[in-house]
Amino acid sequence: VTTTVLDRAVRVPVAGVEHPGPSAICRIGLLGLGNVGSAFARLARDPSASFAAVGFTPAVAAALVRSPAKPRGSDLAPLITDDREAFFAEPVDLVVEALGGVDPAFTLVSRALARGIPVVTANKSLIAAHGDELSRIARRHGTALRYEAACMAGVPFLGTFERRPLAARASGVTAILNGTSNYILSALAAGGGSFAGALADAQRLGYAEPDPSMDISGADAAEKLTILIRLFGRLVVEPARIPLDAIAEVDGEDMSAAAAWGGAIRPLARAAWRDTAIRAHVGPAFVGGTHALAHVAGVSNGIVIDAERGTQCYIGPGAGPEVTAATLLDDVAEVVTERRVRTPACPVVEAATAVTVPDSAWFLRLGGALPSDIADLLGSYGIWCTRLERRGARVYALTCSATPARIHAALDAVRAATGADAAGVPAIVEEASC
Ligand code: NAP
Ligand code: HSE
Repeated sequence: VTTTVLDRAVRVPVAGVEHPGPSAICRIGLLGLGNVGSAFARLARDPSASFAAVGFTPAVAAALVRSPAKPRGSDLAPLITDDREAFFAEPVDLVVEALGGVDPAFTLVSRALARGIPVVTANKSLIAAHGDELSRIARRHGTALRYEAACMAGVPFLGTFERRPLAARASGVTAILNGTSNYILSALAAGGGSFAGALADAQRLGYAEPDPSMDISGADAAEKLTILIRLFGRLVVEPARIPLDAIAEVDGEDMSAAAAWGGAIRPLARAAWRDTAIRAHVGPAFVGGTHALAHVAGVSNGIVIDAERGTQCYIGPGAGPEVTAATLLDDVAEVVTERRVRTPACPVVEAATAVTVPDSAWFLRLGGALPSDIADLLGSYGIWCTRLERRGARVYALTCSATPARIHAALDAVRAATGADAAGVPAIVEEASC
């Protein structure tokens, strides 16, 4: 199914003619005028982001918000309302959604698509929960749905792989998908204050979700990971089925110990699939210094795709109102300037059956009254260490590959036998195969 948006905007380039002619106005209905929505409204009217060269001028015509009386920057939109009917009464060419959450975003986005109005969204909760259904509505009504900003907001790659199914054949991904948690862990690694202080900074900078527990619990990354599993693995899985560990389980001392071994602790999202079985995990993990994601710090995101044609890696800005707004506006430009606007057909996807945590090496932290033969003690529970070092009151260890069940049983046994504190996170290291 194809449709044409803003026909007047589509211009055939003529050799030697620099100006493509007057721009068509693209009237945009904006759902949400928070961190992302207001950055989008500012960028849309910023002359330096002009799309005149491709023949259109974005103009925010109306914005739907929860509290219209809230003080906001001036001139963000001619109409700012909490009345859905007033919003939908405005003639718009395209809707940009930056509300967050599943409801009422799903209702409002479906309503726009069902009227044939293209939608561009940054909302990964919405796409993780209802992406297929919304794509079907878009195709049925001959219009476009784009969500490049929903995953790794400043790294344009989702749409590319959606339109290239052979390139998207992959067996797994390893990624940093949440900018806020990477920002917090990087601040702790730099000795830059407390967890709470770093989270407050991430909120002030507009990186965090409206509910920041989504960031620090790993739930936001899990939503993004399910979008990637669907794209690269052709498997549908609910975000709630992805096993999560919160980044609050690690502290500055752990970060220093990781750095002393040339690596870093990063908020990793991993998935690998075979037939309909998935091995997946979101949580803090030790990343060895030679891994592509070891030096992806701050609000940056990165992904390593185990593609059939060879490993591919993308790194770039992961969050922030300005980068997100720019990606949204690029999606708008793509929808407006493509003469035949397609919502890619949903590929054949299957429901995932099992979802289990992958085996890996482990980075262990042991504290308290530890016996001198702690390596032997771990060995007696089937856990073999490739590195072990005392740092102050703690001992850190890197282990060979072990199942999550085995490592947790061993740590439980060490705690019971010695009264020591014992915790571990997965480790992505080359020495794992011992
Ligand atoms: P935000 O600052 O909390 O803004 C949300 C906006 O939506 C506000 O304007 C709010 O109205 C409005 N809103 C919320 N619920 C509403 C409802 N029921 N009815 C009408 N309006 C409602 O959130 P944000 O940080 O901009 O994030 C928006 C979306 O972008 C989320 O899906 C997020 O995951 C996604 N995203 C964010 C980033 C980032 O770096 N922050 C990056 C990529 C994607 P009021 O202003 O009146 O409260
Ligand atoms: N809160 C999200 C993050 C925004 O920090 O990654 C980008 O999706």
